[in-house]
Amino acid sequence: MNWPLAMKAARMPLVVAVLAAGVAPRVRAQEPATFFRQNCVACHTVGGGRLTGPDLKNVVARKDRAWLVHFIQNPKVVIDSGDPYAAQLLQEARGVVMPALPGMNPAMADGLIALIEAESKLEKSQFVGLQLSDRPFTPADVAAGTQIFLGTKRLATGGPPCLSCHSIGGVGAMGGGKLGPDLTLVYERLGGRKGVGAWLTAPATPTMQTLFSPAPLRAEEILPLLALLEDAALRRGTEGPVAPLTFFLIGLAGTVFSLVVFDLAWQERFRNVRRTLVDRIARRGTR
Ligand code: HEC
Ligand code: HEC
Repeated sequence: MNWPLAMKAARMPLVVAVLAAGVAPRVRAQEPATFFRQNCVACHTVGGGRLTGPDLKNVVARKDRAWLVHFIQNPKVVIDSGDPYAAQLLQEARGVVMPALPGMNPAMADGLIALIEAESKLEKSQFVGLQLSDRPFTPADVAAGTQIFLGTKRLATGGPPCLSCHSIGGVGAMGGGKLGPDLTLVYERLGGRKGVGAWLTAPATPTMQTLFSPAPLRAEEILPLLALLEDAALRRGTEGPVAPLTFFLIGLAGTVFSLVVFDLAWQERFRNVRRTLVDRIARRGTR
């Protein structure tokens, strides 16, 4: 019971230090444009085409304002109410439900829809999204992406290398950080070149946002990283027999570790359950 705790404790200062570097008391700005940049651009552009969610250019011409203001405050409730327009949006998004966003309120929702309306009138909105080149990736891109991932090529903003928290495919399979998820399959799951590109421009999850919203990755860093992520996703399965064995061993070690932890943590509870069962059977036996 003690050593896993000790391990966790030992890791805390690092995590805290890394996060503190990014956040130090940062007040959440409540300007709609800032809010949109922090919460919406991972899934929406204004005039840059669909990502996970629809392109919001001229959305106010597609649907009435009151509905939109209501919808973005709690999308799931509107979808669950059986609203036919919401059902159609959901279908076009292949079943992805827009999340309710922390900090959203009626005034902000109203401000956001007004912002989208104003941005729609511009020839080029500031939210047109990352205009990444769509030339095919080359092996040189993959190599450059690997260097960025490993930190042998530093991020322009000086942020920590991906490897300190992530592993991917063959790269750092054993040595990569464990704070973030393995990224081997993320390319497909987050929607390929366009989806992952948008995601990396403005990550929407807590740790990644803390790290990269004050110091965003550059387009010339994102492109090679995408090449690496695509390469890792394509390679999976075509790798020799080593990879599955490695995964098996990692899995096995993980399972043993969890079993030990659960056993220690639940010993008491398990014993109680067993005692109750034994008592019950004993009672039945004497009846
Ligand atoms: C995780 C992805 C995601 C995020 C983040 C997100 N949305 Fe959405 N949004 C969607 C999806 C998907 C839909 C389509 C409806 C559905 O499937 O839930 C949608 C629909 C919408 C619509 C209606 C679009 C139409 O064509 O009628 C508006 C307006 C909208 N979102 C605004 C926002 C705003 C503003 C934010 C930020 C505060 C935001 N969204 C954040 C995914 C997202
Ligand atoms: C300080 C640790 C840390 C660093 C450095 C870091 N990440 Fe992350 N990353 C995380 C964590 C933790 C998550 C899980 C979601 C969250 O909490 O943000 C994550 C999630 C992700 C995801 C989404 C994964 C999924 O399964 O949805 C991607 C993609 C990603 N990171 C890419 C990168 C890239 C590329 C770099 C380097 C440029 C990087 N990360 C650097 C900690 C980190």
